[in-house]
Amino acid sequence: MLAQAAALAPLVIVDGQKTDGVDSLWREMRTRTGDLPCVTRAHGRLFWFESTAVDISDWTAPAPAPVDGGFVTQWGAFSADGPDRGSQMLAAALPGKLPSRMADLGAGWGYLARAVLERDGVKSIDLVEAEKLALDCARRNVTDPRAAFHWADVTRFKPDHLYDGIVSNPPFHVGRAADPALGRAFIVAAARMLAPSGQLWMVANRHLPYESSLRESFRSVEEIGGDGTFKLFHAIRPLKPTDKKPR
Ligand SMILES: C[S@@+](CC[C@H](N)C(=O)[O-])C[C@H]1O[C@@H](n2cnc3c(N)ncnc32)[C@H](O)[C@@H]1O
Repeated sequence: MLAQAAALAPLVIVDGQKTDGVDSLWREMRTRTGDLPCVTRAHGRLFWFESTAVDISDWTAPAPAPVDGGFVTQWGAFSADGPDRGSQMLAAALPGKLPSRMADLGAGWGYLARAVLERDGVKSIDLVEAEKLALDCARRNVTDPRAAFHWADVTRFKPDHLYDGIVSNPPFHVGRAADPALGRAFIVAAARMLAPSGQLWMVANRHLPYESSLRESFRSVEEIGGDGTFKLFHAIRPLKPTDKKPR
């Protein structure tokens, strides 16, 4: 991103959190520019540099590249070196026939969505993904006209119509630490976007505690497989806010 910014403007200002790695970026820049002006406050650092004074064109992100299975992926996207094993397990566990209106929440570069389109019965699939570079790869990997692409935050996304089925390998990191909160928000979002008889197929790392969120959001939840690292869930009939008992 800095290489892109430097190519576009004479002055680049970088503002970041130390917990997100701004200090290592700053140190990297200093090895190229010498002393670099900056302001630090609390856990943040802000620094700036003149693009003409330093060449960082070698930081430019490489173009999307092919990986196994006939996909292209982009450096920086989730599982850029090839299909994620958890997603492969979920794809293999999907039934031969799926509901007609489907969505893939957190679709990445499109591995799961392509597997969904290989099943019978699917009339449409919405790929919802927050990372634009990943979604741009998905557009190249999933060329089926039944697919639509939404660059959006799943937790706020409002589909045009409710879905009959959703697949998801939800994100499990916010910042650096594994955090189930975003995955839980994906479960709540899936329940909100599904029709009353809708179904969710989901894969998660085995150590992440999603069972109670699934049971709070769906009438029926079943673990349909997995291994020591991953667990697969099939949840059906979402509970809408009016169905839920106050705790
Ligand atoms: C575990 S990856 C799964 C990607 C893909 N489905 C696959 O199987 O390879 C989760 C994806 O969710 C995306 N993501 C994270 N937070 C999101 C959000 N709030 N809204 C939409 N997508 C999000 C990430 O960029 C990432 O691509």
